[in-house]
This record gives sequence, C-alpha cells and structure tokens, in this order.
Amino acid sequence: MEAKAKVENLETITSLCKRRGFIFLSSEIYGGLGSCYDYGPLGVEVKRNVKEAWWRSTVQARANVVGLDASIIMHPKVWEASGHIAGFNDPLIECEHCALRVRADKLDEAPMKCPKNKEGHKFGEPRMFNLMFKTNLGPIEDAANTVYLRPETAQGIFVNFNNVTDSTRVKLPFGIAQQGKSFRNEITTRRFTFRTSEFEQMEMEFFCRPEEVKEWYDYWRKERLQWFVDLGVAPERLRLRDHDEDELAHYSTACADIEYLFPFGWSELEGIACRGCYDLSKHAEHSGKKMEWLDQSTNERFIPHVVEPALGTDRAILVFLTDAYTEEKIDGNPRTVMKFHPKIAPTKVAVFPLLRKDGHPEKAMELFNSLKEHYMATYDESGNIGRRYRRQDEAGTPVCLTIDHQTFEDGTITLRDRDTLEQRRIELSQVREELFKVLGF
Ligand code: GAP
Repeated sequence: MEAKAKVENLETITSLCKRRGFIFLSSEIYGGLGSCYDYGPLGVEVKRNVKEAWWRSTVQARANVVGLDASIIMHPKVWEASGHIAGFNDPLIECEHCALRVRADKLDEAPMKCPKNKEGHKFGEPRMFNLMFKTNLGPIEDAANTVYLRPETAQGIFVNFNNVTDSTRVKLPFGIAQQGKSFRNEITTRRFTFRTSEFEQMEMEFFCRPEEVKEWYDYWRKERLQWFVDLGVAPERLRLRDHDEDELAHYSTACADIEYLFPFGWSELEGIACRGCYDLSKHAEHSGKKMEWLDQSTNERFIPHVVEPALGTDRAILVFLTDAYTEEKIDGNPRTVMKFHPKIAPTKVAVFPLLRKDGHPEKAMELFNSLKEHYMATYDESGNIGRRYRRQDEAGTPVCLTIDHQTFEDGTITLRDRDTLEQRRIELSQVREELFKVLGF
C-alpha cells in the first residue's frame, strides 16, 4: 500500500504550533522575519529532548564516539580550504520587473514564471549566489577581517581532528559528534522550519580506514534510520534514497538521504555521506599541518576516510511534530492528540486536583513537587477535568494524574494514559514505579 503523509496540510501543524506554544515566527510583533523561528515553552522542551536523544544514542551509548562544541565563527581560511567560499552556491533567478527571487534548481518548489504573470515580469538568467552569511570581526569593516557564520557544523570537527586525537585515547575507527547552530542565506525559505536561514545541526564525522568505509557507511545508514523508528516515527513514512552519480559532491563516493513523507511530499531529513579524505586533506594542504592517523602497530601513516551522518535538528523536530499529530473521535467527539514518544514529549506528566477545595490542590501540589525533580511535569487546576485532559492531549503529555476524594480515603490516585485513554487507580506511594512502566524511564 502506498504510504500517506500523516497530515495533509502543513498549515495544520503551523497553527497547532502557534496555538499550543511549540513554535512561533521570529519577531512576530514586527510582522515576523520570514525564515527564522522561535521555540515556545513546549517547543523548547521538544528540542532539548530531541538533542538529548541524539546525543545519548550517538555519543553516550558508544565507546568510540566523543563530543565537541566548536565556535560558530571560525578562521576564514577554514571556508577557503573546505571549498565553501568558492563553491557553496545556489543558482538564483530573479524577476526582471519585480525582483522576486527563486532558486533555479528548485523549480518544483518555486514558480516556473514570475507569479505576477504580467507584461514585463520574466525571470532573467540564473546567477550563482553564495549562501554564507558574512560579517566582520572587530570594528573595521574590510576584507581583511571578513568572517562567516558557519554553514555546517562539520568543519569545526575536521579542524579539531588533531586536538581530539592528541588529547583523548580514541582509536580508529572513531567518531566526533557535534550539535549547534548553522546559518545559510537560503534563497527560498518556505515550508515552516523545513528550510530556514538559522538552524541547528547534529553531525558526526566517523573516521575509519579507507578500506572500511563501505562497511561503516552501511552501518550508519541503518543506525540512523532506526533512531527515528525507535523514537516513534512510522517506518512507512521513512525511506533511504541513494543519490544518483550526478548528485554526489566531487569528493563523495556515496551518499544517501533519509527522507520523510512530509505534507509536501518525500523530502530530505538527514544526509549520510562518504566524504573520503577530502576535508582532512584540504585542511592539511591549507594549514600546512599534518592531519593523519599513525597506526602504532605498523607505523603506517594515512589520512582517515569519513562517513558523515548529518541531521538538521529543526527538520527532525518538524518530523516528530508531524508524525505525532493525530485527529480521532472518542465517543463521537473529536480530539487532537500529539502521540509523541515519551522521550520526545515536552511534558511527561500532568498533575490535577479534581476540585479547587477540600485539600485537593495542596495534595496535588505536593505530588507535583515530588515529581518535578525527576520529570518535566505540569500542574493544572483550571477548567473541568475533561478540558484539562484535552489540553494535555494537544501538548502530547503521556500521563495525567488526578487527586480526588478517594485519595484521602485509600491513598490512591487516577492515572490516565494519553493513548489508550485507560483510567486506573494506582497507589500514590507507587507513583514512580507506575510512571516507569508507562514512560520507560
Ligand atoms: N555537513 C554536511 C551538511 O551540512 P547538508 O545536507 O547540507 O549536509 C545536513 O545538511 C542536514 O542539515 C540536512 O539533511 C537538513 O536536515 C539540515 N539542513 C540543511 N540546510 C538546512 C536549512 N536551511 N534549514 C533547516 N535545516 C537544514
């Protein structure tokens, strides 16, 4: 059966994000800054959870991967060596009349002719446009102190290759992982957070012997795809697409995209590339420093090859939001529920007093206080209990706990499961054990 997008229209996600405080347009009170977004109270939790899940599975859970946090502004020679100054370009075409600009290589995403479609409105010849944001280091604005906001986190890893190998006990094969902001002056930034000018990346450069590249490439393709599945993304909306020869960068021997079936069709979520020894060789050439691995058992020196899984954090968040979005009918009543994996859910548990009297709020607050040290929790006493459940469903909270009359009689509370809607009584004294059963942590 052909896979279907979870949500037909991206607008469904953008409006939920605004309404519930996941994601807002940047500087909205000034009309918004297209292509930049802010994460609201729920969104920032999702973002932290996604980054934490990636870090755990990529760095913490492995003996042969270490982390790094390099600066965003780097020596301009980095970008000369990496080829970004000369070649990090997109073809830009512009309407000769109204100056509308689109990417010439993305005509499926952009109009073929100027949408004004009036006399005089026509696109000119494509010209190349460098995507790096330029700025100046220091008060004087001249070519000598021009620096760039990094367009990928990867180069921060390559230039630290010697520092990491000299200061740690890593042995080939090993990885260096990094999360952080990247910036690209994208010509067209539509589709919400899918393509923005400022975004975060989570990248890992996995260094190995040249003859082992194929094996590690196959390994990371599987690992990275499985990561999304383990965090609840439907496998039928994920696929690996191998790049055709003409899509490969000149230094790349193989590259695949993990694609997701977004509301606007199958599109790139993460890239997994064999970068050969291109980057280390180029930095060695431009810096005059050797960037090699010494195999101490054979005294052999060589430049390791690299497999790079490169994921956009914001794109991953858009996938988790889209895939979690569910509309269903309960006893004929519609409900919108975000069925996040518990690790991704912004709030893990909500605590309610049934009444705003008779000691219920105090008891509920006591429970909330005891849980919030361990979980991202929330307390809610406003509106009737049904409305409180709906609010937590839209936020994707897996568990709601309610203090009621019976709590004072037999020390039990109600646990309500977001997905099954089952409500059962549990011992207040067993609440951590019960939460562990539902959440898995
Ligand atoms: N170091 C390799 C590299 O940066 P890339 O395919 O250009 O490769 C990797 O980027 C990932 O970063 C993409 O798969 C996507 O998830 C994310 N990404 C790239 N450009 C982006 C943008 N303008 N906005 C949001 N995410 C972006």
